[in-house]
Amino acid sequence: MVPLVFPAPDAWAVDEKAAARIVKTQCAGCHKFAGQPESKFKLKAPDLMWAGNKYQRPWLIRWLRGDEENLYPNGYRWDQSGGAFRHMTLSGTEAAGVADYLEKHYVDPRVKKQAVDLSQFSERESQFGAEIFKQFSCLGCHQIREDGKKTGGPISVTLYDAGNRYNVDWLYRFALNPQDFTPHSGEYLADLTGRGVRHLIGYLMTLGVKNYKFYEPWESGDFKNAQAQRGQEVYKVYCSQCHGAKGEGDGPGAPGLEPKPAVHAKMNLHDLPQDYLYNVIFYGGKSVGKSPMMPDWGLTLSSRQLADVNAYLRATFKGSPESAGPRVAASSGASGVCPQKRKTKKAPAKFQRMKNPLPASSAHLLAGEALFQKKVKPLACAQCHGKKGDGKGLLAGGLNPAPRNFTCADTMKNITDGQMFWVIKKGSPGTGMMAFKNLKDNQIWQLIHYIRKLGQ
Ligand code: HEC
Ligand code: HEC
Ligand code: HEC
Ligand code: HEC
Repeated sequence: MVPLVFPAPDAWAVDEKAAARIVKTQCAGCHKFAGQPESKFKLKAPDLMWAGNKYQRPWLIRWLRGDEENLYPNGYRWDQSGGAFRHMTLSGTEAAGVADYLEKHYVDPRVKKQAVDLSQFSERESQFGAEIFKQFSCLGCHQIREDGKKTGGPISVTLYDAGNRYNVDWLYRFALNPQDFTPHSGEYLADLTGRGVRHLIGYLMTLGVKNYKFYEPWESGDFKNAQAQRGQEVYKVYCSQCHGAKGEGDGPGAPGLEPKPAVHAKMNLHDLPQDYLYNVIFYGGKSVGKSPMMPDWGLTLSSRQLADVNAYLRATFKGSPESAGPRVAASSGASGVCPQKRKTKKAPAKFQRMKNPLPASSAHLLAGEALFQKKVKPLACAQCHGKKGDGKGLLAGGLNPAPRNFTCADTMKNITDGQMFWVIKKGSPGTGMMAFKNLKDNQIWQLIHYIRKLGQ
């Protein structure tokens, strides 16, 4: 398919004509613009039959001007040796002209507009996408950036700037069946469901984008118009079966559960970070490394019901006098139970033997403090273990067993650094202590230094 070019009087058309000439005489020397997709091992350069809806225009122009890094770290044809490849470059006007020309003439009809709507893509969904990216081996062949450093196998295109490069509609269509675009090129088909594809695609579209604007459900109209009274009805139908009619944790389902359903009546859900409360209800206990017996309600409840039950929880459960959230002045100074019973199992010997490899320097202590008090996701340690580490955080009163009181020397002297490392990494099944899978080893050791300091 060689596009026809008509001479036209205005300046734009002159560009189009010039662009057509560039594509035909230069680009087509390496890239294929028509016909069926083929194995890369039969090509000189990536196929461009769909160039019209694959790229974001600003990226394409930067690429053609030579302002972007190469996409294939080992060269597109990694099977053929031959030093670092330098792509041909165009002037700014030429690049813009070629970009317009491609956008007009090389549109792939298989790519449907707005097949995936990311206007309501949340940060939590992006985290799921990041997990999928690793679980499904994507990192084995595509590089991303972590803490500024490139990681991943350099086999195929780099994806650390994917969010600035791809048109999301193309990316989505590609994900449905990569072999429709790059057959027999060493590509990989992931076994993903609808939701998984959305999370993965959405995640890729955040890569490289500064200050990506995530959707925040709790800023939505449903939340602004939420009614606690309607939420009480939702609670009665869906939550009380385990959490009890009054949130005492004594619903008919409770006796069979380990850990016990949270006792909302003794928690301060009013002051709990909104993202955590919403996500634990929407995605369930397992999504935060807690019990899968706490169901994920995202498919069952409508967005209004979620907003309403949230309003009900926040209006109703503000902590009880004996659970010492910050709202309860009397708690300041008072310390938690000591000595404390521990439900957590003993870590395997391999962990027990571990010693903190970091010095207890003030830099590490400060980093540990920031993590403990605020930064750890999905929920900061202080929300359960208390700001002072006395085991009296916002959620503490409603957890059975109660969170560890780090200020209790009697109990803490039996807990080795390695035991702590293991528990923070893996969680403590059957208790409210979740697994913090996103923490790096060094961050865990910083936390451990800080926890020891809380006990002094
Ligand atoms: C000498 C061969 C050659 C010529 C000529 C050439 N390209 Fe390329 N092009 C390549 C190779 C090889 C790559 C992969 C580069 C890499 O490793 O990042 C590439 C990559 C691209 C990409 C990104 C492809 C992707 O992965 O999605 C675009 C877009 C592109 N070229 C457009 C053009 C256009 C437009 C022209 C003409 C102005 C052109 N190229 C001319 C060889 C060529
Ligand atoms: C075994 C290696 C391998 C794995 C694993 C893999 N890919 Fe790929 N991927 C490829 C190859 C090969 C291509 C074709 C492009 C090329 O010639 O390198 C490709 C193409 C792509 C493209 C289109 C690139 C472009 O611009 O044309 C995207 C996007 C992509 N992969 C994403 C993923 C994601 C997401 C995963 C994980 C679910 C994944 N890949 C897993 C090897 C892999
Ligand atoms: C099948 C039983 C069951 C039902 C039904 C249930 N939950 Fe839970 N819920 C649990 C269990 C068990 C836990 C404790 C999880 C843990 O600590 O690992 C829990 C914990 C919680 C927590 C505290 C999370 C934390 O980090 O400690 C909240 C908030 C919560 N549920 C809200 C709800 C809401 C709202 C509903 C109704 C829409 C609901 N639950 C329905 C079993 C249930
Ligand atoms: C949702 C509430 C919750 C959060 C958030 C939480 N914990 Fe815990 N944690 C608990 C509970 C409950 C226990 C007590 C388990 C038991 O009885 O052995 C516990 C126990 C522990 C223990 C003692 C384990 C043992 O062997 O006795 C350590 C260490 C610990 N948590 C560290 C942390 C750190 C560090 C963080 C933040 C990264 C954190 N926890 C966040 C609830 C929580």
